[in-house]
Formats: sequence, C-alpha cells, structure tokens
Amino acid sequence: MDGEKFNWKGRLGPMELLVSGATFTPSTITTIMAKDLTINSGESVIDVGCGSGILSIIAAKLGAGSVIGIDQSPDVVDVGNYNAEKLGVADRIRFYQGDLFSPIPEDLKVDVIIGDVSGIPDTLANYTGWFPSGKGGGTRGCELPIRMLTDAAAHLKSGGRIYLPTGTLQDENKILEAARSMYRNVDMLAERKIPFPNEFAESDVARELIESGTISIASRGTRYLWIGRAWLISEPY
Ligand SMILES: C[S@@+](CC[C@H](N)C(=O)[O-])C[C@H]1O[C@@H](n2cnc3c(N)ncnc32)[C@H](O)[C@@H]1O
Repeated sequence: MDGEKFNWKGRLGPMELLVSGATFTPSTITTIMAKDLTINSGESVIDVGCGSGILSIIAAKLGAGSVIGIDQSPDVVDVGNYNAEKLGVADRIRFYQGDLFSPIPEDLKVDVIIGDVSGIPDTLANYTGWFPSGKGGGTRGCELPIRMLTDAAAHLKSGGRIYLPTGTLQDENKILEAARSMYRNVDMLAERKIPFPNEFAESDVARELIESGTISIASRGTRYLWIGRAWLISEPY
C-alpha cells in the first residue's frame, strides 16, 4: 500500500503504522486517549473517527473481543486493514468508511465507544493542514463532536461508556454542556497543556476564533499553549 510510515511511540508502542495522504496522523490527543483507555477482556468497541486505526488496534491489543473502526476517509478500510494485519489484530477489527455511525446497523450496541472525531473549527483545520480532508468539526469545532455524542447513545449497551477528547482549540464548553444534557456521568480523565505553533497562534484565523470566544490559547513567554482533555462519559438519560 502507498503511504508513509509513522512510528507510534505511545501506549503499547513502538508500533509502525501506515498513514496515507488521506489519513489523519496520530497526534498528542491520540496519545492522551490511548493512555487512559480501559478495555476489559472481551468487550465490544466502536472507534468512530478511527483514522489510521491506531486506537482500534490498541483496544484490540488490550483485549477487546471485537472492534469496529469507522472514518470518513476514503481509504480507511485499506489503511486500517493493512495496519491491523501488520500488527496482528486483524481477526478482531472491521473497518468501515462513512459518516459517524451510518455504516453500521442502527441497533448495534457495544460496551465502549471511542469518539475521537475531528473537533477543531473548520477554518483552523484548513489553515493548519492538520486534517487531510481540510475540514474540522464544524464552524466552532463542536458541531461534529455533539452530533457524535447525540448518535452514540443509541449504540451503547446498558453500562457502556464513551471516551471523548476535547480541548480549548474548539468550543469545548458547548460540547461539555451538550454531553451533560445527554449523559448522567461526564468525568475528566486527563488534562494536558500542548504547544501551539506561533505561526498558527499569531494568525488572523486564530485571532478571529479567539475574539469570537470559540477557542482559547494561553501564552507563556514567547510560546503558546492550548489544553487537551480526555473524558469518560456514561449513562445516557
Ligand atoms: C482527530 S482525528 C483522530 C483519528 C484517530 N482516532 C487518531 O487518533 O489518530 C479525527 C478523525 O475523524 C474523522 N472524521 C471526521 N469527520 C468524520 C465523520 N463525519 N465521520 C467519521 N469520521 C470522521 C477524520 O477523518 C479523522 O480521521
């Protein structure tokens, strides 16, 4: 398969992954999500916004009985299968291409949903080039994660849980407000300050998003930082 090799150094690493031109390259948020992921033996998992399949692969290696990885990337099935085969877990993972949960049956329910869909404002995604599609999670970066949380409830078994990343590079408060209106338990698992390159922090795109109250960035000396967080969510109302 064509693509570039990426050396994953986070949990259970090192692992060599293939990422294509259309595949999201694992980030600091991926590392945070992987670190705090708990998978009990035999649990069923949906990894929505799976990118290269890294979190699906980690879930399988942690003992998941079955994992479904979904992404809108056009070649997610080829890239995901390639990585899962290379890393010895292809027997327990199936990859699908499509929007959120649309590729799977409406009544399919799992123990764990990893909900790491794109979640920075579209203008910032386009400017940074962090997302191969050039698209983020909506105008304020909260629209797609909120849609994911809304649809996820129908795919959770009783007692099931969702792992969600958020951060100050999106309208995080709106996501958390929506999460708390839909789920009884919304608990923070981890929080980390992450450097934000000066060229992005000082751009007109970032300034407009800060002025509109969509994102927030802290400055420390000549450096800029944003905060990434991981959440554990359960018990839909
Ligand atoms: C922040 S990346 C995370 C990828 C992967 N979980 C990782 O950590 O490397 C978000 C992913 O969501 C995918 N995505 C964006 N919109 C989507 C949608 N509507 N349905 C499914 N996946 C989507 C993107 O293609 C991207 O791979």
